[in-house]
Amino acid sequence: MPTVDNPTQRSLSELGVTSPEEVRSLFEQVRARFDAEANGNRHAVDWSMTRQAWLSRKSGVLTQITENWLKPSPVELKRAVGESLNNFKEHVAVVLADALAAVEAGAEAAVSAKERVDLSLPGVIGPTGSRHLIRQVLQEIEDIFFSIGFSVVEGPEVETPYYNFEALNIPEHHAVRDDMDTFYLDLPNGAPGPLLLRTHTSPVQIHVMEKRQPPVRVIVPGKVYRRDNPDATHSFMFHQIEGLAVDSGITFCDFTGTIDYFVKQFFGEAVKTRFRPSYFPFTEPSIEFDASCIFCGGSGAAKTGGICGKCKGAGWIELFGAGMVDPAVYGFVNYDPKKVSGFAFGIGIDRLAMLKYGIDDIQVFFQNDVRFLKQFP
Ligand code: DAH
Repeated sequence: MPTVDNPTQRSLSELGVTSPEEVRSLFEQVRARFDAEANGNRHAVDWSMTRQAWLSRKSGVLTQITENWLKPSPVELKRAVGESLNNFKEHVAVVLADALAAVEAGAEAAVSAKERVDLSLPGVIGPTGSRHLIRQVLQEIEDIFFSIGFSVVEGPEVETPYYNFEALNIPEHHAVRDDMDTFYLDLPNGAPGPLLLRTHTSPVQIHVMEKRQPPVRVIVPGKVYRRDNPDATHSFMFHQIEGLAVDSGITFCDFTGTIDYFVKQFFGEAVKTRFRPSYFPFTEPSIEFDASCIFCGGSGAAKTGGICGKCKGAGWIELFGAGMVDPAVYGFVNYDPKKVSGFAFGIGIDRLAMLKYGIDDIQVFFQNDVRFLKQFP
């Protein structure tokens, strides 16, 4: 029996097939070709091409066999061709059905592998934040003043020179403006100005006294801005808490007693306070409060020998400025200086936080380094 390239395109007589054995061996060749092709298949597309090549009604191999071998076959071979063809058809159907099932199962497995959730894995725990140390210290300070009848007000960070300077008794050419040189805002042409970033929280004293009549007892926390170059103790933005108490008959004694109470509550009963003369245009007299050094207990000596590095051996640490409200300021808010008196103070929150928690660089407050922040949960 001759072997031809594509025997299914020829008739049996062209192929020289004359006996049922030759018919069966011819079908074995075709089956071997089909099996070889099927074994080489790897992907769903391979299988769809195999299906097309063998089962397509118009030109599939099975159709060719029916047309070229079965239909024109001589009577004595018809039975053998019919039988072999049926067996082969069944074989092809089974192989293709198995392949289809395998392809579908594989696709499903791939999808479910992607979607699988392993419930035994630990969950993702999002980091919980905490309040920033500045916020915590502000809260401590507020709580102390709340306990003696102060309430909180806030004011704008963008100010006019009138509130930031003039109404606080700092006229245009006053020398202290040099220390408080600040950021002025670029405004559109024709906009009323100038406007600046406040250099201290003191302007809120004016806002409050413009709106309220005595008695006034407020603290004012907030951000302030200065044209300072950053270093361990300077930042272009930092935090203050202003205090203002005005009433009839408030004395210097009320003032220093209040501050002493605050300092002891904040740093501890053992800490002593003292005040020194100072100068601020909006207070008269003006003073500077010191606390006995909280690092060396006021001795000025380091525990390890030598002088205390924090107070430089002085035994005292400067805390903040304060004073009795200058009567000139009352003139700007229509209070009668003959009837009222009061005191004011301006605490640097960052500075107090640094002292209390032994932090020696103000910049760490603004760097958002979680290794620092986590130390104050
Ligand atoms: N505003 C001052 C500053 O930023 C601090 C200050 C001093 C505020 C004395 C006061 C005060 O209320 O009485 O330097």
